[in-house]
Amino acid sequence: MASEKPVGVADIGVTGLAVMGSNLARNFARHGYKVAVHNRSFAKTERLVAEHGDDGTFVPSESVEDFVASLSRPRVAVIMVKAGAGTDAVIDQLAAVMEPGDIIVDAGNAHFPDTIRRENALRAKGLHFVGSGVSGGEEGALLGPSIMPGGTKESYDRLGPMLEDISAKVDGVPCCTHVGPDGAGHFVKMVHNGIEYADMQLIAEAYDLLRQGLGASAAEIGEIFAEWNRGDLESFLIEITAEVLAHTDADTGNAFVDVVMDRAEQKGTGRWTVQNGLDLGVPITGIAEATFARALSGSVPQREAARGVLPANAGTWEVTDRAGFIEDVRQALYASKVVAYSQGFDQIAAASAENGWDIDRGAMARIWRGGCIIRARFLNRITEAYEENPDLQLLLAAPYFTEAVGNGVAAWRRIVAQAALNGVPTPAFASSLAYYDGVRADRLPAALVQAQRDFFGAHTYQRVDRPGTFHTLWSGDRSEEQQD
Ligand SMILES: NC(=O)c1ccc[n+]([C@@H]2O[C@H](COP(=O)([O-])OP(=O)(O)OC[C@H]3O[C@@H](n4cnc5c(N)ncnc54)[C@H](OP(=O)(O)O)[C@@H]3O)[C@@H](O)[C@H]2O)c1
Repeated sequence: MASEKPVGVADIGVTGLAVMGSNLARNFARHGYKVAVHNRSFAKTERLVAEHGDDGTFVPSESVEDFVASLSRPRVAVIMVKAGAGTDAVIDQLAAVMEPGDIIVDAGNAHFPDTIRRENALRAKGLHFVGSGVSGGEEGALLGPSIMPGGTKESYDRLGPMLEDISAKVDGVPCCTHVGPDGAGHFVKMVHNGIEYADMQLIAEAYDLLRQGLGASAAEIGEIFAEWNRGDLESFLIEITAEVLAHTDADTGNAFVDVVMDRAEQKGTGRWTVQNGLDLGVPITGIAEATFARALSGSVPQREAARGVLPANAGTWEVTDRAGFIEDVRQALYASKVVAYSQGFDQIAAASAENGWDIDRGAMARIWRGGCIIRARFLNRITEAYEENPDLQLLLAAPYFTEAVGNGVAAWRRIVAQAALNGVPTPAFASSLAYYDGVRADRLPAALVQAQRDFFGAHTYQRVDRPGTFHTLWSGDRSEEQQD
């Protein structure tokens, strides 16, 4: 029989109905969109419609062909499958039946070079390909995520209003905007995740300092975090930290954090961010230290070889001014956090310039205010800083942050120094402070490094007193030659 299947009725389609895809489809449906739904194995599609059919109107299809046919034109199909080969397979299936002008959206966690490659290939077929970051996990997908779509402006005109509709809202403003062409959306999502790594590591170091410095219990520290969440540090991550620290393990009656193995895993976006920071030559030390801290936690044989063997030769930490110490840790955390964000925004600026993406950094801070894991009160300040000066060279040097971080520098130094004296590792706190001192330095010892490079590799150098490129004849009479 010809087709009894619905044709051209759905506003948008979602293929890949595991937890993220089905929640995203439900979110669209709850906002009044007719949603075509499809999954490789039909059982997931049937389950979604059976369990959540009353969320709105779903148009289920068993085959990719019927799924595409059920979409109104220009068709918009959102892919939410396992990133990597799965995404390529689904793109190929969709592209085989879609027509020029149609839009394929990859809302999974793709690596941005893959998105650039896919966009390029689909553009040649007249299809729009939108790589879109989606943050907020399962709950965000259902209730309102932060959405970072790349792709063409034309595709955003069709797709953007729907995405803005289902995104989180802060002060009535959607946490979704067009990030920029091709891979810009997935790039910004990657940096978002990198910043998330840094933020989590900084919070973990603050917890460790409070635990070791004060000898406080997890629950007591949970109360400190709950208090911090009422001030400048207010954020999702601080809030959930307070909850985790307050939680007791049902089996043992111990603090939950004490029964969890101290090995942090990673799925890869932190690693991608660090690799890209190295490629671009942008010092994202906070994100890098956070990623390496996870790697160290998982370096089990090395940790076993070192435990009880490497001498600490450190003092016994006795904090006498409890309130003063807590405030010092809070200030050090805030300052280190500003450094991590400042570095992440530098990375976005560098990639935007290199790829011609023209990313509005203030808008990125705005769409991260809700729905995503790094949502935080202080993102408003970042948006304001870039609104005041869209060409801001360094977020740390924006007047608000110069003052806020400047007020906390003494505390930051005390904390990093005391931690070192007492043998407590603070890789992210310490490297952030080193970055702060490095970036503000009048003169860096890089002069010596460049001189060494000239000595062994004739890499040349520039002088402070006159223009030009020079080389010293180190193995000859040590006279200087001008190279240009
Ligand atoms: N989980 C999160 O919190 C989160 C947050 C943000 C972004 N993401 C991203 O969102 C995407 C989906 O995540 P998820 O956790 O919901 O699901 P997932 O476990 O990453 O992937 C499972 C889904 O992918 C489909 N799939 C896998 N290989 C396929 C192939 N070769 N062809 C067709 N379909 C294939 C599966 O279909 P079958 O049912 O037929 O096996 C299933 O629908 C991923 O890219 C993930 O990185 C996840």
